Amino acid sequence: MSVPGTEANPLRVAIVGAGPSGFYAAESLLKSGQVVRIDMIERLPAPYGLVRHGVAPDHPKLKEAIAVYDRIARSPEFRYFGNVTVGRDLPVGALAAAYHAVIFASGAESDRRLGVPGEDLAGSYTATEFVGWYNGHPDFRDRVFDLAQEVAVIIGQGNVAADVCRILAKTVDELKHTDIAEHALEALAASRVREIHVIGRRGPAQAKFTAKELRELGELDDAEVVLDPAELELNPESLAEFEDRKGAGAKKNLEILREFAARPASGRSRRIYFRFLLSPVEILGQGHVERVVFERNRLSGGPFEQSARGTGERLELAAGLVFRSIGYKGTAMAGVPFDARQGVFPSRDGRILDETGAVVPGLYACGWIKRGPTGIIGTNKPCSVATVASLLADLAALDQVPKPGAEGLPVLLGADGLRVVSYDDWVTIDQAEVSRGAPKGKPREKFTSVDEMLEVLGAPRR
Ligand SMILES: Cc1cc2nc3c(=O)[nH]c(=O)nc-3n(C[C@H](O)[C@H](O)[C@H](O)COP(=O)(O)OP(=O)(O)OC[C@H]3O[C@@H](n4cnc5c(N)ncnc54)[C@H](O)[C@@H]3O)c2cc1C
Ligand SMILES: NC(=O)c1ccc[n+]([C@@H]2O[C@H](COP(=O)([O-])OP(=O)(O)OC[C@H]3O[C@@H](n4cnc5c(N)ncnc54)[C@H](OP(=O)(O)O)[C@@H]3O)[C@@H](O)[C@H]2O)c1
Repeated sequence: MSVPGTEANPLRVAIVGAGPSGFYAAESLLKSGQVVRIDMIERLPAPYGLVRHGVAPDHPKLKEAIAVYDRIARSPEFRYFGNVTVGRDLPVGALAAAYHAVIFASGAESDRRLGVPGEDLAGSYTATEFVGWYNGHPDFRDRVFDLAQEVAVIIGQGNVAADVCRILAKTVDELKHTDIAEHALEALAASRVREIHVIGRRGPAQAKFTAKELRELGELDDAEVVLDPAELELNPESLAEFEDRKGAGAKKNLEILREFAARPASGRSRRIYFRFLLSPVEILGQGHVERVVFERNRLSGGPFEQSARGTGERLELAAGLVFRSIGYKGTAMAGVPFDARQGVFPSRDGRILDETGAVVPGLYACGWIKRGPTGIIGTNKPCSVATVASLLADLAALDQVPKPGAEGLPVLLGADGLRVVSYDDWVTIDQAEVSRGAPKGKPREKFTSVDEMLEVLGAPRR
């Protein structure tokens, strides 16, 4: 027996989830100087997590990270096992026994609840499901969105809200040469949405858009921003935030919003309204969203600590559609400690902790399931590097026995009848998607069901 990381006893690591954080963890292990063998296990046949199913179809440049992940996936020490759900097809206990360490990089697949009456009325949707639907995620392809409504409300002012707003506000011509799912393009072509209200519970200085994404909402072919300059008045604490370097992004946003407010009406057919200091308290309607009731807020607290406090003043907005874009949330996995309030696997320096706060040997986390659902693609790199640093620091404390990896797990070898998707298989699916997209001038036409992807491989699922 020897410390893992040698030819005689390679360090065998399973990574659960093929999103950015999983790939950055793999990259960091490959660069560690140890002899490593990495098996990445992903519940969908397709890798890349939210880079494929979250990043907006009209932002192709942001998907360029995929080229980096593809290079990592082609390393001889790396193997990909797609179409395997850890915690369902493969118990965590069995996985942990077959590897020296398991890194969970399973992201945040659910969403936060608003917790107001009427939240689940027909016509009220989460951004998570809408984004998954237009991006062809198999879990969401059958969702139906009532785009026959003329007025939509988006709750939340982060970049996901900006994505949802842009997709609703763009014309078909602006979307048809992207990799948007065909079913979404067809539904959006028939959309009657004309007014989109993007609502923040705090003020314009606290909106979480990044400047580029905000500016883009003012650059659409057939939509204009309508903004009452009175909405942009700031309290002294917000002005103080602008004096600090931390407030630079917000200051830029305010300049953009002021420029929007100064624009004359252009007569474009869709209008985007920004409203601030409003919290939804109830969504009303007879079996379908008809109105949203808001409470006006004021800000309370010092610079960078301002929270929204209700004033008691209510106002209503007639709307037939609501998109709740208030943040994603991680989900539990059988066999892994879970903090249900935060929606994360509790961890310290990437080491997973049990309910007593003690480290669970050999289990690690990175990305959104470790930090919560914030941060751009690049934010996950230092996060995963830090987790791998902890793992490497623990080498002497890990089980010293050589581990079998996938060879010790019949399910990963297809023995269970599950059609496990290798990286070569994925390349075949990828090429088929690209070929399907070409006649339409699209970078790809995604397969939106697992069965369709497996059919490309000539394999029924079971
Ligand atoms: C709508 C949206 C748009 C975004 N757009 C941008 C953008 O334009 N630019 C940018 O820089 N950032 C963007 N981000 C942020 C970026 O996508 C995230 O920072 C990043 O994807 C988080 O990486 P992750 O690996 O932690 O999670 P994910 O990307 O979610 O990957 C997790 C993976 O784990 C898999 N998985 C889950 N459970 C299991 C299981 N039980 N077994 C096996 N596999 C499992 C999932 O299928 C998924 O593939 C966006 C985020 C969202 C939500
Ligand atoms: N193009 C890109 O780079 C891109 C695109 C999409 C996503 N992303 C990244 O992905 C991450 C997630 O984005 P996100 O938009 O989901 O999250 P986010 O940036 O955290 O924004 C969430 C929004 O919801 C609001 N909110 C939260 N709880 C609420 C409640 N109970 N009632 C009303 N409003 C509430 C927040 O307001 P408060 O501020 O008051 O909490 C905030 O405006 C971010 O880091 C984002 O930058 C990047």
